[in-house]
Amino acid sequence: MTHDYLKSNFYTKDKILSLFEVAKKVKNEVKQRQLRHVLDGYVSAMIFQKPSLRTRCTFDIGMYQLGGKAIYLGPSEISLGVRESAYDIAKNLERWCDIIVARVFAQKYVEDLAQASSIPVINALSDDEHPCQAMADYFTLWENGLSSSNLALAYIGDGNNVCVSLMLIGAILGCDFRAVCPKGYEPDAKYVDEANEYAKLSGGKVTVTSDIQEGITGTDAIYTDTWASMHHTEEEARERFSIFLPYQVNKKLLEIAKPGAFAMHCLPAHRNEEITDEVMDSKQSIVFDEAENRLHMQKMILLDCLDKIDSL
Ligand code: CP
Ligand code: NVA
Repeated sequence: MTHDYLKSNFYTKDKILSLFEVAKKVKNEVKQRQLRHVLDGYVSAMIFQKPSLRTRCTFDIGMYQLGGKAIYLGPSEISLGVRESAYDIAKNLERWCDIIVARVFAQKYVEDLAQASSIPVINALSDDEHPCQAMADYFTLWENGLSSSNLALAYIGDGNNVCVSLMLIGAILGCDFRAVCPKGYEPDAKYVDEANEYAKLSGGKVTVTSDIQEGITGTDAIYTDTWASMHHTEEEARERFSIFLPYQVNKKLLEIAKPGAFAMHCLPAHRNEEITDEVMDSKQSIVFDEAENRLHMQKMILLDCLDKIDSL
């Protein structure tokens, strides 16, 4: 059955682990220049309300490597919700395309597109969640021998869309997940409650704290993201700077984690704000592995949404 991928809680632990196995296999094949054109003749429409490097490139290249084609509809092109409603856009696209990849402000836009269209819709980031990012990140950790039962991951900084997706998927996988955020910038309580429910079932643990020492001690990886996201104003970004500065991922902070702990970032990074050059360019940094794996993991998500994963 074809399906949407709108929220981080969509996949079960077993399903995520099975997607990791296939992603690993296909990633190795791509490295040997072996492509499998299982989406020959398929077309994706990529609706982007916000800028992007990684998500745009990897969804486009992913379709190409699978034998299909992607059409990019950028922020100024179709003006989702302004020039035309999500409903009308979906009703057009379903006549020409096989899948919609959408990066939006309000989560409601991806839900409206999915509701209106007969073709699958993938959430390529909303103000609330970034599930494709978190899937690629857990795949990257898994490749490095850190799977759910032996992974303590600290996300430090703003309790934003990336934090929420890491927390929900981490809880489903059974990780020891810590959100280390200044007071008032924690992930929304509804997501923390939801993650705690998943952790109860998986044997995982979810901690939300503003205490850096408590949050970072004993972790295998430290993850950060921008202090002000694309949906925040310039003024909010200015206000946040001094509040978040103690939470900067620098060498001293990384030393609180386990020796050799990984440093992670979804990118784009604001170098020497949320993460220092010294950490980002260190041997412990896996930020570009994460970026690479966006491609491999999203190909799995595209195939699964189109009910084509078994064709591989
Ligand atoms: N990490 C990420 O989604 O990057 P882009 O905003 O460049 O797509
Ligand atoms: N939290 C960031 C992620 C960018 C990939 C944002 O929403 O701008």
